[in-house]
Amino acid sequence: MTTPLLQMKGIGKSFGANRVLQDVHLDLFAGEVHILAGENGAGKSTLINILGGVHQDYEGQILLDGTARQFKSVLEAARHGIAVIHQELSLVNTLSVADNLFLGREVCRWSWLQRTSMLAQARQWLAALDLDIDVTCPVEQYPVGIRQMIEICKALSLQSRIMVMDEPTSALTEPESQRLFGLIDTLKQRGVGIIYITHKMEEIYRIGDRITVLRDGQAIGTARSHLLPQDTLVTWMVGRTIQEQFPNHAPHTGEVCLQARHFTVPDPDRRGACVVDHVNLAVHAGEIVGVAGLQGSGNSALLNGLFGTFGRRVQGDVQINGRPYTAFSPGHSIARGMALVTNDRKTTGLIASMNIIQNVTLASLKAFCEGGFLQPKAERRAAAQQSRALNLKASSLNEDMDCLSGGNQQKVVLAKWLETRPRILLLDDPCRGVDIGAKHEIYELMTRLCTEGVAIVLVSSEMPELLCMSDRILVMHRGQVTLALNRDEATQEKILYAALGKRNNA
Ligand SMILES: Nc1ncnc2c1ncn2[C@@H]1O[C@H](COP(=O)(O)OP(=O)(O)OP(=O)(O)O)[C@@H](O)[C@H]1O
Ligand SMILES: [Mg+2]
Repeated sequence: MTTPLLQMKGIGKSFGANRVLQDVHLDLFAGEVHILAGENGAGKSTLINILGGVHQDYEGQILLDGTARQFKSVLEAARHGIAVIHQELSLVNTLSVADNLFLGREVCRWSWLQRTSMLAQARQWLAALDLDIDVTCPVEQYPVGIRQMIEICKALSLQSRIMVMDEPTSALTEPESQRLFGLIDTLKQRGVGIIYITHKMEEIYRIGDRITVLRDGQAIGTARSHLLPQDTLVTWMVGRTIQEQFPNHAPHTGEVCLQARHFTVPDPDRRGACVVDHVNLAVHAGEIVGVAGLQGSGNSALLNGLFGTFGRRVQGDVQINGRPYTAFSPGHSIARGMALVTNDRKTTGLIASMNIIQNVTLASLKAFCEGGFLQPKAERRAAAQQSRALNLKASSLNEDMDCLSGGNQQKVVLAKWLETRPRILLLDDPCRGVDIGAKHEIYELMTRLCTEGVAIVLVSSEMPELLCMSDRILVMHRGQVTLALNRDEATQEKILYAALGKRNNA
């Protein structure tokens, strides 16, 4: 029998008193994709952070080609051929794309930086992912999906033998994910071993050769993916069966809550250009309007523009509940009953150094003030209620965001906005990184909010979510709405076709 590329044996890990991994075994062979699945907070990222040299104090053993290794740093793990695409993106936002790609391994000649060859090489790497962006621009200028592609590109460029991908497609749209899968096939043929973490069922079965499931820090089982039926997999993950992923959502259409006519968001970087171009939108009480589109199509910018993220730079007529709205600032939007769950929890969703209670109450502090003083007991009560409703997994409500798993951070973002009791809810990829059980709960929550007359606009990178949850779907391309579909006429093909900018939709 061939020796596995990698063996992780009896891995255990605690954070303080919190035991998060217990006697976990995982192995990886050359040329295979080994899926690591499990609920939010199960310990997946912690396990691969141990492999990647992020955590050095753990129990158990790591063997590469049968030889025991202990990595004292991320750099040491990288030197041993381990590349990690982290769940929370690890790029330096103020540095350029090229500088990020070469960080720590700049090309020098007689101690001079070889900028021209670095830029050329960076462009070549990006081209492998069909990514046509300016490599000299700071990373922070790009939306989260592009940043995720840059992160993937960085890991690919290391040409490692072991690649770890922690939810690499969580902010990618369908065609971008397909491109990544193509690259994964190539890597497999070259003998690279890949550990792949995802909450997306289709991906597990599309690319996985074997699957290991973690639950509450323990490995529940490992199986070849074609021998593990989906319902067994789900039971392994959440400890119960989940019948249907999407609840029955019947529209409860009432009055128009949010109306935009010729809504336009100018491009901050290119004079005369727009990222949202004369979009018309009407959302009724109790209705979910889905907005599809590729990265940079303007769907995220539409939500942000309406919410006031760009201030009064936007143009067009907007009405909330029949009354004109021109203030365009997040504060005013919140006061008018609007909430925006952004797609980038790290930068715009949460404050990492604040705890759960502070984050949950952040957008509704007024409700917790009495005589100018915050009421900590009321804040705690609200946070406890939200975390119960969303099934938040944390050792205490005083836990800072950096100590929560990715999916649980996402739940805090949702909790924060639900706490404002919105009447118009703008959701930009609300289930990003959320496990299958929690997704089901969020979909039920959306359905319940609709019956209460809340109007929802849903941008999502996940096609099944858009198709099954939306009453109507608008497809955007280059800032414009190129297609509008009712629920019963919407198909994945039609949406993709229009999202790619093809006019003649069959
Ligand atoms: N730096 C840290 N300090 C303290 N606790 C942590 C830290 N990182 C993770 N944890 C805890 O470890 C547990 C496992 O988290 P981990 O991030 O590994 O989960 P996960 O399986 O990757 O979940 P998700 O699917 O949500 O990303 C969680 O309970 C989390 O709160
Ligand atoms: Mg994780």
